[in-house]
Amino acid sequence: MSLQTTAAGLPQEVAELGPWFHNLRLPGGVQTAPEHPLGDFPSYKWAEIAGSLPADLTGKRALDIGCNAGFYTFELAKRGADVLGIDHDPHFLRQARWASEQLGVADRVELRRLDVYDLARLDETFDVVIFMGVLYHLRYPLLGLDLVAEKVRGTLVLQTLTRPQTEVRDVPPDLPFDERHELADPAWPSMAFIEHRLADDPTNWWAPSPAAVDAMVRSTGLRVVDRPGHEIWICERERDSAHRGEVDRATGRT
Ligand SMILES: C[S@@+](CC[C@H](N)C(=O)[O-])C[C@H]1O[C@@H](n2cnc3c(N)ncnc32)[C@H](O)[C@@H]1O
Repeated sequence: MSLQTTAAGLPQEVAELGPWFHNLRLPGGVQTAPEHPLGDFPSYKWAEIAGSLPADLTGKRALDIGCNAGFYTFELAKRGADVLGIDHDPHFLRQARWASEQLGVADRVELRRLDVYDLARLDETFDVVIFMGVLYHLRYPLLGLDLVAEKVRGTLVLQTLTRPQTEVRDVPPDLPFDERHELADPAWPSMAFIEHRLADDPTNWWAPSPAAVDAMVRSTGLRVVDRPGHEIWICERERDSAHRGEVDRATGRT
């Protein structure tokens, strides 16, 4: 790759495509966000989930939701999967398209400008679904998670910002009306609503507690099979969704 560098030392094309949220390592030792405030992001997150997915994904179909510049999309493609990466932001999709060429995986990667809610009309299921860093950006998180779960025929990797919760408790199969004080228990599965900003980001709407993530996953028809890292859930299908009718009505699908 012959890339001219800018005064800041970044290759010209990398600088022109910036700002970058993903630090991609490109041929020739080029990195897209070497000064990332979160560190070597998301390489260290990938290290936490890499062992939860098959090393050989040849013949498998994968979906990366909120793919950003394509870090996870490319890792799955390097393992042999055919990957559909979707994001609603054309800025990030431009980066991902360019990087897929640089990394030589463009033939196994399709990138489409789609919203999470557009999954309602995507008529396909996937062996691997990556849904990392998106749930808390949705104003309608359970609708989004129901739609994501519909796409899972194999493994879902879910990552979300959470509301800190140290206590755990059993939840009764039915809570009597006059025992609603139980809902104020800090261990009850719950989501904190963020009316204004969290980390100066107006699109951070919800911070679910870990117990709420567990419960929401179960409620979609999936089950949690592993927790390989902080705020990461590995899930598989347990049963069909019981909420298809409501999802249809919410998305105008029928
Ligand atoms: C915090 S970044 C996470 C990127 C990547 N998944 C990761 O974990 O490193 C959120 C990404 O999701 C995308 N996104 C947010 N809301 C979305 C939505 N409703 N539909 C599709 N993409 C969305 C953003 O454009 C952004 O690329």
